[in-house]
Amino acid sequence: MSEMSSKPLNGMSDIGSPEVGLWQHLEAEARKVFKAFCFDELRTPVMERTELFVRSLGDATDVVQKEMYTLERSRYSATLRPEGTAGVIRHIAGLGQDANGSRVFYIGPMFRAERPQAGRKRQFHQLGAEMIGEAQPAADAECIAMQMALLKRWGMENASVQLNTRGRAEDMRAVADGLRELIKPQLGELCEDCCRRFDTNILRVLDCKQKRCAEIAAALPAMTEFMSEESREYFTAVQRWLDILGVEYTVNPLLVRGLDYYEHTVWEIRHGGLGAQDALSGGGRYRINHGRNDIQGVGFALGLERVVMALKSEGIEAEQFSSKPDIYLVSLGETALQSNAELAMQLRSKGLSCAMDWRARSMKAQMRTANKTGAAHVIIRGDNEVEEQVYQVKDMAEGTQQTVKLEQLLELFLPSTEG
Ligand code: HAM
Repeated sequence: MSEMSSKPLNGMSDIGSPEVGLWQHLEAEARKVFKAFCFDELRTPVMERTELFVRSLGDATDVVQKEMYTLERSRYSATLRPEGTAGVIRHIAGLGQDANGSRVFYIGPMFRAERPQAGRKRQFHQLGAEMIGEAQPAADAECIAMQMALLKRWGMENASVQLNTRGRAEDMRAVADGLRELIKPQLGELCEDCCRRFDTNILRVLDCKQKRCAEIAAALPAMTEFMSEESREYFTAVQRWLDILGVEYTVNPLLVRGLDYYEHTVWEIRHGGLGAQDALSGGGRYRINHGRNDIQGVGFALGLERVVMALKSEGIEAEQFSSKPDIYLVSLGETALQSNAELAMQLRSKGLSCAMDWRARSMKAQMRTANKTGAAHVIIRGDNEVEEQVYQVKDMAEGTQQTVKLEQLLELFLPSTEG
């Protein structure tokens, strides 16, 4: 039998210490920001009916065409969620009219069968938010402003917003026809993917990375030229609201986003520390048909792996968030070990984190381990200390040591309690 690999599947990762400390910090800070903007968490299943994604994201999108992990059972077809919006909208549809005005956020794994590379994984994690309700330029601006507040809270500095509009859904045909007419004479020069997109998903030609396609796209007039007055006014209003909310942005007429549910505002947040996959986040306003409901909303999702990469490129170290015990208890002898075990339980019940060694090894060995854990304080006890009911407390940062009684010990670690 071949040896079992200790690595996860290609394109997937374990997230352990010290890195997981940074992830926990990012999530905890994000929860505070979401609370300030009055968003509630929604946890949807990681699997949904395949049809939900095909219909919500659009059957011509790359995600649906090439990247879904689908499980065919005899009576149904299920897919690991490639993104979070479709599941949120399914949930919202079940709530009926009451859902208008709902604000939800989600944090969790998503799955796309992409070719793995830096910043592109097969299992990655999104932190996203959706605001349900009819099109309001101020809501779109608030959603972008919230994201910027989140990045600021995380201490990120070098992120920038790219903004564009796809116009209302009713304008889509005029935009597509207008673009097709202008691109048609150069159809033979487009890459293979764009030749296919020309018929099925013309907007994606605008953000193709191939050199010749990019040149052709850059020479086209902005999509807004083919849109109704209403769509153009909506976009102007979004920009005015962003100015009011103090959000800086750049209008990028070639930004279209890769999912079909968008209409009106679309945006991406990019970061210079990410390399080729420089989108930290993508978002926009959308309209998704679910059964008899046409649900409108605006939202975004940040890729957490990319957030971690971006923060590291700005010098933020994961180590500073790794959890260290408050106290390490060193026990010299069996009696001290038992007494320390009781003390540790008592301190933990008050919320302090305590580590100790069950083997009562030598003082030197235990101190070495204490050092390794990064504990702020060490309590050292042998038979004498137990008998005299005292505690040697060492402050690891200062290197000082003092002998204290239980009352002082509790006062030292739990100053607000009464002993
Ligand atoms: P998306 O642009 O497909 O949008 O993904 C959002 C973010 O997820 C990307 O900007 C990126 O940071 C991260 N991401 C996507 N694919 C990968 C991957 N293979 N590996 C690592 N990170 C990745 C959406 O998913 C929409 N649901 C966003 C949205 C919410 N729009 C409205 N509401």
